Amino acid sequence: MGLRLGVVGACGRGGSFSAVCRALPGVEVTAVCDTNETDLPRAAQEHGAVAFTDLGAMLAASIVDAVVIATPMPCHASQAIQALEAGVHVLSEVPAAVSLDECRALTLAAGRSQALYAMAENYLYSPQNVAIRAMVRAGVFGQVYYAEGEYLHELKQLNEATPWRRRWQTGIDGNTYPTHSLGPIMQWMPGDRVESVSCAGSGRRHRDPRGATYENQASTVTLCRMRSGGLVKLRLDMLSDRPHAMTNYQLQGMDGAYESARSAGERDRIWLRSACADGEWRDLADLAPEHYPAGWLQAQEEARKAGHGGGDYYTLADFVEAIRDGRPAEIGIHEAMDMTIPGLVSQASIAQGSVWLSVPDSRSWIGEGVAMPQLRMRYPEWRHSSPPEPCVPPGYILRQIRPGEEEAYGALMECAGFGGVSPDAALDRVRRALPGAFFVVEHEPTGAMVATAFGSHAPTVSHPNGGALDWVAADPLHSGRGLGRAVTAAVTRLLVQRGYRDIYLLTDDWRLPAIACYLQLGWEPIIDGPQMRERWGAVQASLRAGR
Ligand SMILES: NC(=O)c1ccc[n+]([C@@H]2O[C@H](COP(=O)([O-])OP(=O)(O)OC[C@H]3O[C@@H](n4cnc5c(N)ncnc54)[C@H](O)[C@@H]3O)[C@@H](O)[C@H]2O)c1
Repeated sequence: MGLRLGVVGACGRGGSFSAVCRALPGVEVTAVCDTNETDLPRAAQEHGAVAFTDLGAMLAASIVDAVVIATPMPCHASQAIQALEAGVHVLSEVPAAVSLDECRALTLAAGRSQALYAMAENYLYSPQNVAIRAMVRAGVFGQVYYAEGEYLHELKQLNEATPWRRRWQTGIDGNTYPTHSLGPIMQWMPGDRVESVSCAGSGRRHRDPRGATYENQASTVTLCRMRSGGLVKLRLDMLSDRPHAMTNYQLQGMDGAYESARSAGERDRIWLRSACADGEWRDLADLAPEHYPAGWLQAQEEARKAGHGGGDYYTLADFVEAIRDGRPAEIGIHEAMDMTIPGLVSQASIAQGSVWLSVPDSRSWIGEGVAMPQLRMRYPEWRHSSPPEPCVPPGYILRQIRPGEEEAYGALMECAGFGGVSPDAALDRVRRALPGAFFVVEHEPTGAMVATAFGSHAPTVSHPNGGALDWVAADPLHSGRGLGRAVTAAVTRLLVQRGYRDIYLLTDDWRLPAIACYLQLGWEPIIDGPQMRERWGAVQASLRAGR
C-alpha cells in the first residue's frame, strides 16, 4: 500500500500539495480536513478522499499515515503536536510555530514521537538556491561568512481575504515570516546557526481599509550574528507598494560571491576565484549545470508543473522519501527551529529597542526526549606522516565504485543496517565524494560489492576546512575479514594525501565494532564538553567489556 496522506487546510494552501500528489507515485490523498464547510466537499471529491472538519476526528479514523499541515500560522505547532502524538508523520507549512513556548513543545513532541517531523520550506528548491547550495558543498565559495535574504511581498489585499495574516504576519513588529529568506542561507552556511539577533524597523507607514494603522513597521531588518562569527542580514516587508520582486539573496565567501537577480529580466550573477577572471561577474546559469544534484534534475519536468517553481514538488517528495527510507527529513525539527526561532527573537528585540538577544538552540532542549548530536572522531595531524595502509585478504579487490553500481550500493547499505539508499541518492553520494575517493571492496568469486566508504570535502562550523570519512559499511556475511578496516584506511590515506589537515567522521554511540576499528587505525574521539566526555566514557567502558 502507498502512503496515505491527509491534507489539513485543504481548501487553501493545502490544495497545492494535494495537486502535487498526483505526480508522486505511491502517495494517495485519503483524507482532507478544513473548517471551511462550503468548499470542503469539492476538495474531497477531487481526490475521492474522506472529508473532516476537525483534525482530531481525522486522526481517530486511522486512514492517514502522514499529514500536510497548511492551515494558518497559529495552528501549525498545535496541529503538528497532535499528529505526532498520534504517531502520524507531519509536513508543516512555514513557520513551524508562532512563539518560543510552542517551539519548545513542538521540539519535545518531535523527539518523543516515532513519526517524522518536517517543515515545508519550499524556497530551498528553486534552481538558483539548489545550485548555490551544491556549489557551497563543493567548496567553490571557500568559507562563507556573509549573506543577505529578503522577503518583500505586498499583501494588504490578501490580509483582508485571510484575516489571520493581519494578526500574525502584519500585526507584530519584527520578522514574522523568516523562513523563505533565512532557509536557503542556513543551507549555505552548513553546520552554522544564528546565535543572536538585533532587529530595527522603518516606522509605521500603512493603514488597512478601515483606516487603522498597521501595528508593524513597514520594513524591518534583522541582523543575525552566526556562531561561526559570520553575519546575515534579513529584510522583511509585507506592506510596501512596489512592483513585484519578492526575494533577494546574496552570499559572500572567501573565494566567491553570489547575487541573485532582483527582478524579471535580470540574471543571477556569480564570481568565483577558481572560474572567473579578476573583476568579472559571470552568469550563474553558465556555471550551475554541472552542480545540480542528479535526483533534482531528473524530477525537473514534473516539479515545474507544481507550484512555486517546483519547490512544492521537491518539498513533498523529500518528505515522502524520508518516510520510506527511514532517514531524517531535509528540514527536520532542529533545522525548522533554526529557521523559525530567529524570527521570534527578532520580535522581542525590536520590542526592546533593537537590543541584541540570544537565540535558543533547540538542540539544548535535549535530555527532555530530543535526539542527541552524533559522536565525532578525528584522524590526528601527528599521524599524517604515516597514514594506514589499506589491505584486503585474498579473494577480495579494493577498487573505486563504477557507474551503474548504484543499486548494488543501495543493497549493501541495506544489509549493513543503514536502510536502503535509492539509486538517485547513491548517485548524489558519488557526486559528493572527492575524485578517486569512493572505495568499494568486491568479493572476487561472486563479483558482489561487500564493503564501502568514501571521502568528501565537508566543511562545518567546527571543521571549516574539514575532509570527512563518510558512510563506512560492510556486508555482515563477510565480517571478520577486515573489510571495513580496509575501506576506512583507504579513505583516511586519501584524505591525508589530498592535503586535508582536519580529517573527521561522525558516528553513533552504539556502533561499537566500527568505533573499535577507527580507534585501531589511530582515530581519536573528539571530546568537547562534559556530555561528550560522559558518552565517550560509556563507549569505552562497553568496548573494554567486549560488548
Ligand atoms: N510556503 C509557501 O510558499 C506558502 C505560500 C502560501 C501560504 N503559505 C503558508 O500556508 C499556510 C496557509 O496559508 P493560506 O494562504 O492557504 O491561508 P488560507 O487562510 O487561505 O487557508 C488556510 C485554510 O485552512 C483552513 N483552516 C483554518 N483553521 C483550520 C483548522 N483549525 N483546521 C483545519 N482547517 C483550518 C481555512 O479554512 C483555509 O481553508 C500559512 O501558514 C502560510 O504561511 C506558505
